[in-house]
Amino acid sequence: MRNHTRTQVGIIGGGPSGLLLSQLLHLRGIDNILLEKRAREYVLGRIRAGVLEHGFADLMREAKCGQRMDAEGEIHDGIYIAFDDRRERVDFKSLTGGNSVIVYGQTELTRDLYEAREKMGGDVIHHAENVTPNDMTSKKPYLSYEFEGEKRRIDCDFIIGADGFHGVSRASIPKDRITEYERVYPFGWLGVLSKTKPVSPELIYANHQRGFSLCSLRSQILSRYYIQVPLTDRVKDWSDEAFWAELKRRLPEDVADALITGRSVEKSIAPLRSFVAEPMRYGQMFLAGDAAHIVPPTGARGLNSAASDIYYLYHAMLDHYENGDDRGLDNYSQKALARVWKGQRFSWWMTTLLHRFPDNSPFDDQLQQTDLEYLFSSKSAQTSLAENYVGLPF
Ligand code: APR
Ligand code: PHB
Repeated sequence: MRNHTRTQVGIIGGGPSGLLLSQLLHLRGIDNILLEKRAREYVLGRIRAGVLEHGFADLMREAKCGQRMDAEGEIHDGIYIAFDDRRERVDFKSLTGGNSVIVYGQTELTRDLYEAREKMGGDVIHHAENVTPNDMTSKKPYLSYEFEGEKRRIDCDFIIGADGFHGVSRASIPKDRITEYERVYPFGWLGVLSKTKPVSPELIYANHQRGFSLCSLRSQILSRYYIQVPLTDRVKDWSDEAFWAELKRRLPEDVADALITGRSVEKSIAPLRSFVAEPMRYGQMFLAGDAAHIVPPTGARGLNSAASDIYYLYHAMLDHYENGDDRGLDNYSQKALARVWKGQRFSWWMTTLLHRFPDNSPFDDQLQQTDLEYLFSSKSAQTSLAENYVGLPF
């Protein structure tokens, strides 16, 4: 009877966080059911960054989902930072003892996770309506939801809230049991996806008096570009031609001259926010990924912050079910938040370093320029950026 089932771990959210945990647990014989409110195609339609730390890549391999990532993902050994018509490279390999990142679109990564769940016969339910976590502070929590009009219930030992920033899990925690920290930035990112050859083999983050820009990619035939825009801008305000002209203004001359433009196959504006909810546990419910924290995309930490949550939760669940040891679960929130806040700091620092802040004083602007000059006059400063970008230890 599907209307009243039982599992060990009930997961809300079929994004990368929920799917990766579901796959890892299943491989170790821990029953789980994942409830996703949207269709798979809808989830896969989201355009998200895909810069993977080596820790995330290792988790994907452990989840037996790393084959396409390893075959099609691009290994990047560094990034460029452009400012004052200069372009300087941060060499990850030499600064971090050989570490790098993999550039592999989140859409593809999520597709790999869905295909792996399907191949294993994983219990992933789409179009799950009104998913609600219940009795989280009891030893018998359960999920209620509706499917095609039928009310259903899943009894479980634990609930994982992997339902993103706008999900139900964090919202279901009493206000006096959770503390939220937030910073909203006074600008957004206008992003364009184009079927063009990327202008640079490695990412270029550019600080310019007209505003931040970023040259990224998904593959050698699919480029991803961003420019900082005021929060009042709308996508309809930006023709492709206007976008390419503004991007060129913000890049070093030789890069602008080499830029291959084309029709946008996707164009969107995203706001920038830093957000952390503490603690990341309420009774038998654990928050993971965007459900608990959000970073501005400047540091490419979003997916990677989710990875360490999943790593900690995965090992805590193994300890619980295989050894009857709950220390991992009891320490989860504190351990996850320690790394989450380091990702928050790095993302805030990269955002502050590279964007034009409309309310900055001349002193603030001088500090930003000095930060950039210091970064490229100090191996220690570059090492700090590099070790954060390739991923701090789990
Ligand atoms: N019931 C069921 N599913 C829900 C609910 C709900 N009430 N609310 C949200 N969801 C689903 C969303 O449809 C989405 O598919 O939960 C999923 C959450 O996925 P993400 O938002 O991608 O969050 P997460 O899996 O933690 O991935 C974090 O995504 O936003 C990026 O930069 C972020 O790269 C990071 C990654
Ligand atoms: C992207 O390719 O979408 C991307 C890459 C790096 C970032 C942000 C976005 O820091």
